[in-house]
Amino acid sequence: MSELKGACIIGQSGGPSSVINASAYGVIRTALDNGSITQVLGAEHGIKGVLNDRLFDMGLEDPAELELLKYTPSSALGSCRYKIADPDVDDTDYKRILEVFKKHNVRYFFYNGGNDSMDTCNKISKYMMKVGYECRVMGVPKTIDNDLFGTDHCPGFSSAAKYIATSCMEVYQDARVYDTGMVVVMEIMGRHAGWLTAAAALASNAGAGPDLIYVPEVDFDMDKFIADVKRVYAERGNCMVAVSEGIHYADGSFVSEAKTSATDGFGHAQLGGLAAMLADIVKRETGAKVRGIELSLLQRCGAHLASRTDYEESFMAGQAAVENAVAGLTDKMVGFECTREGGKYVCKTKLFDLKDVANTEKKLPLEWINADHNGITQGFIDYCLPLIQGETEMKKVDSLPRFARLKKILAK
Ligand code: F6P
Repeated sequence: MSELKGACIIGQSGGPSSVINASAYGVIRTALDNGSITQVLGAEHGIKGVLNDRLFDMGLEDPAELELLKYTPSSALGSCRYKIADPDVDDTDYKRILEVFKKHNVRYFFYNGGNDSMDTCNKISKYMMKVGYECRVMGVPKTIDNDLFGTDHCPGFSSAAKYIATSCMEVYQDARVYDTGMVVVMEIMGRHAGWLTAAAALASNAGAGPDLIYVPEVDFDMDKFIADVKRVYAERGNCMVAVSEGIHYADGSFVSEAKTSATDGFGHAQLGGLAAMLADIVKRETGAKVRGIELSLLQRCGAHLASRTDYEESFMAGQAAVENAVAGLTDKMVGFECTREGGKYVCKTKLFDLKDVANTEKKLPLEWINADHNGITQGFIDYCLPLIQGETEMKKVDSLPRFARLKKILAK
């Protein structure tokens, strides 16, 4: 494969995570150090930054600030939820992307995101091939939802899982202080997949977590839910419940009362408000003291609780994207292939075809949901525990996090 010299773009897309910038740093640092890459450009708000020709020259950043990206949560370059059209229906955006690529001699495109972002990445990759513009395109995975096809797990999930499990364990202590009982409902993200909510089972496994867990892979039955809570509360005097924001009835409609709120740029409903809604119902049905707690954004930006394993793998994914692209590979997403034999966890990068990854959601396996559909089995615990291991070395000033401060100088 002949050497391809030119600039690269790194863009971040979709909901952020606490380690997404570790992947960005993996791309940026590796690209800055690579002789084939002539300029490293950071797209402002993902593909929108390409369309608007708002590209930051990452080579002009202070290297020490760039390094702080490793422990800085949430998309430092800015994210977007922008659904790019089918090029056969409307190729306006693609022509503009090509124009901007040519202007900056962009020969490498790295896009960091989840399902919808991999769809964007796939479409751009195919378009560049169709028009014969030589550009190597690589998807860098990211989603706390952990629902990307092929890969063992997704960067961002493990840290969110650790945050969720830790928060459940802490709330568990608080919810038991009075001599009167209490019911707590914890609402956890994940629209269509229950991976994140299942992570609450790590807390139960450690002896201080939910008694009941409900995920969106199976239909939700309100009567059964109320009966479950009443039974546990009567037996134990307390009850902790973890629910996915995406739980739905058998007809597919979301239980969340916020289901009618506006949709995002990818066409998804913004969920939320479920914990408060279920708390009201439980209060009415049991007369118990009840609290609904929505973990909301905290679970995906809680960098102080990030998993070292996650942050190292996130960096590795970004680094592998650059190394493989420079070596001549294109039209792929970096993923992970892992083994857990005999308690020894080994994780290696593996490439997946973008066309297979785009828009395919990987759900929590049904065998990891208990027969009563209100709990998680040991298989998930064994899968997830290695992913949350280790602490990061977040830099602090006055005992507060010192996050990266980028200059964000636009490339001409
Ligand atoms: O993409 C991951 C995710 O965090 C989902 O779990 C959640 O439903 C959604 O993003 C929230 O999106 P937004 O940031 O647009 O509110």
